[in-house]
Amino acid sequence: MMERAMDAGQIRDAFLQFFRTKGHQIVPSAPMVIKDDPTLMFTNAGMNQFKEIFLGHSSAKYTRVANIQKCLRVSGKHNDLEEVGIDTYHHTMFEMLGNWSFGDYFKTEAIEWAWELLTVVLGISKDDLYVTVFAGDEPDSLPADTESFNLWKNIIGEDRIIFGSQKDNFWEMGDTGPCGPCSEIHADIRSRDEKIVTPGRELINMGHPQVIEIWNLVFIEYNRSADGHLEPLPQKHIDTGMGFERLCMVLQGKKSNYDTDIFQPVISEISKVTSIHYGDTFQHDVAMRVIADHLRAVAFAIADGQLPSNTGAGYVIRRILRRAVRYGFTFLNQKEPFIHELLPILVSRMKAAFPELARQQDMIRKVIAEEELSFLRTLAFGIKRFEQYVAAMGGNKTIEGIFAFDLFDTYGFPIDLTQLMAKELGLTVDMEGFSKGMNEQKERSRQAAVIDSGDWIILSGNDGGAFIGYDILQATVRITRYRKVTVKNEEKYQLVFDKTPFYPESGGQIGDKGYIEQNGEKILITDTKKEHNLIVHYADKLPAEPSHDIIAVVDQVSRTLAACNHSATHLLHNALREVLGKFAEQKGSFVGPTHLRFDFSHYQKLSNEELARVEALVNQKIRQNITLDEKRTVPIHEALALGAIAFFGEKYGDQVRVIRFDNSIELCGGTHVTATGQIGLFKIISESAIAAGIRRIEAITADRAEAYINSQIQIIDEIKNLLKNPGDVVKSVSNLLDENLALQKQIEKYNKKRLEDIKKQLIDQVRQISGVNFIGARIDIEPAALKDLVFDLRNSIENMVVVLGSENNGKANLTIMISDNLVKERGLHAGTMIREVSKEISGGGGGQAHYASAGGNDPVGINRAIQKVEQMIS
Ligand code: SER
Repeated sequence: MMERAMDAGQIRDAFLQFFRTKGHQIVPSAPMVIKDDPTLMFTNAGMNQFKEIFLGHSSAKYTRVANIQKCLRVSGKHNDLEEVGIDTYHHTMFEMLGNWSFGDYFKTEAIEWAWELLTVVLGISKDDLYVTVFAGDEPDSLPADTESFNLWKNIIGEDRIIFGSQKDNFWEMGDTGPCGPCSEIHADIRSRDEKIVTPGRELINMGHPQVIEIWNLVFIEYNRSADGHLEPLPQKHIDTGMGFERLCMVLQGKKSNYDTDIFQPVISEISKVTSIHYGDTFQHDVAMRVIADHLRAVAFAIADGQLPSNTGAGYVIRRILRRAVRYGFTFLNQKEPFIHELLPILVSRMKAAFPELARQQDMIRKVIAEEELSFLRTLAFGIKRFEQYVAAMGGNKTIEGIFAFDLFDTYGFPIDLTQLMAKELGLTVDMEGFSKGMNEQKERSRQAAVIDSGDWIILSGNDGGAFIGYDILQATVRITRYRKVTVKNEEKYQLVFDKTPFYPESGGQIGDKGYIEQNGEKILITDTKKEHNLIVHYADKLPAEPSHDIIAVVDQVSRTLAACNHSATHLLHNALREVLGKFAEQKGSFVGPTHLRFDFSHYQKLSNEELARVEALVNQKIRQNITLDEKRTVPIHEALALGAIAFFGEKYGDQVRVIRFDNSIELCGGTHVTATGQIGLFKIISESAIAAGIRRIEAITADRAEAYINSQIQIIDEIKNLLKNPGDVVKSVSNLLDENLALQKQIEKYNKKRLEDIKKQLIDQVRQISGVNFIGARIDIEPAALKDLVFDLRNSIENMVVVLGSENNGKANLTIMISDNLVKERGLHAGTMIREVSKEISGGGGGQAHYASAGGNDPVGINRAIQKVEQMIS
């Protein structure tokens, strides 16, 4: 090992430099949040972005590539979430160092170079390393990987080579897709004494925190198809992935990833904020690791454009952050938001390798702070619910599973938190009932999400599928591949064409709809989406002759309206930057035929004046009828030099399309109007907050905007008609409101006076019954007034029983009021009495000893009820 340990930045550089010298092109990390693959939410391996190259669907620009990929393993096949923090070497987000060969070098170089980098360049002792190779598998008829075994034998002793099972030594990206046998390199970083007691080879893949896999060399040779069988690929490829955090641990001589310079600064800050020392107790350490890890995952996801939300990828991010908040809350006693305060430390450590974090630091901090606050509020509500529940449990010692599940479902209480709170009170939780609730919910969401895709049936190799819809909306095309999908028990088809006028959903714009036609049969296309490089059309049916020509026709009306909204979105973006400043950056958008939605960073609500200025600016540009300046293929550096706006989290190629309307210049693949005049009219219909520091504007254009304005005018016309066409309609409405208020006041005054009179009359009617001042009367006033009246009487008359009845809208009400001395001395109870006498009005009620009320359906019985009260005290 080197004299002075390398820091994280030096290790990244050493890796990239090594592969540069081996002829590799260094490429940037793909965004962590995936936008064009319905089967995957987040990048979970470095190879995701190269999947289509492995499968032979697209050709590689460079045959040797290396990079550092931001990965997130929190959903789907690779999900480490629950392990994170408990152990010292799993993460939600991690950096994966990878080198790739696309049909170029194979096992020999991959193995030799990996060894050279680790042992020669980075100086890891050969005695600390072990390797695994694939032992073969019967059901898949796969032979043992003797080729790798022999290659390794030339490098290390046989006693350091371990044959592994399909589970450990056959890497698959998901249920389907490119895969192949793999050879892992493991490091044993235990002490000399421990190594003497138990040889490292016995601990490989056994979950030992200091005998861990650091690098996985995958020999991609197959595609796993939807029916489960393995198809050999046309070419063989190399996909390697090394866990950066683990490598740092080994090179820095640490025993935990969290002790490296990647995490320590954040952990120290957590210690400072919480005044709890890292290393004191297991529980504290787990909580600190969870927070340090999750902060990183959430910050990177937000930087890549994924805000926390209630669905899909946004929900996964929200859950990660909530897990961190909850650990802080329960184990570090943090009842106020604090995780966002750790962000500056994280950013300062990471910004050299990932500048996107620094640029968006302020926005990320606000979003995290807001999320923390709202979840802490939810936790507080949940705790209150828990306390109420426990108070009503009586002698019962078991919390029902269904209640624990409700806490989880409604308040996001993980079951261990409920168990912990229960334990503190000497209670237990019915775990069987809880699991039942969980399983039922899982089943419900599984049912809702079932989309069963069959394998692609390939009809022709010409899968280019170029989009030709910028210029035409109809074309004669051929299906190159199709597959059957079952959605909620209905059979549908997904089709790929050799070329297509259908715009696939991307850049916020929804996919085109339309139809295809063959021999007079029209089949609906309900949506169009991108799946990697393929444009997939969602069809109700397969044409009768799938290999013959079909006519593909895009729904022109929807497309034109979507184009109006898309161009308007660009104008809106530009106007916002002009009115609010250039920090009003796009954070998301939706562009459809009906409306547009635009999310952007801004710290406060827009004033009416700002909104009016933005709207006016957009409409000005519309009236100027600016011609679209579209450049389909511009080298990205030229486009950026022009001042074109690009977005974080978007993947751009070397050549980009630039859309320009006057001074609005954006990199954009969407469809647009040929001149802004076509948009007709732009109208903002709402402005709101969707997260801290993120605002949303919803707007409409073209005929929708016209219809909206007309409907507003119609409402005004109707108001004018009602008011008999006054000269100044606003003044008239305002006068009406003033008059209304004055009348209301008069009515209140009148009612007050009336109640005074009634009260006087009632006082005159007091009768002495068995030594009690008794009033019994029917007065038809509102129940609320009835209540006020009896309380008023109570202050005026001593030693009193009052029973009042009233009829209101066909319903009967009764009220009984008893002076406190009678409650005490004579044991009278208004609640008990009213329960009895309310039978007379076919109703029920109750209350306290001195005051009770009841309602019923039979006003005829009011007088009988009053008499009954009188009898009760006689
Ligand atoms: N695809 C492999 C992995 O993710 C190696 O990069 O482990």
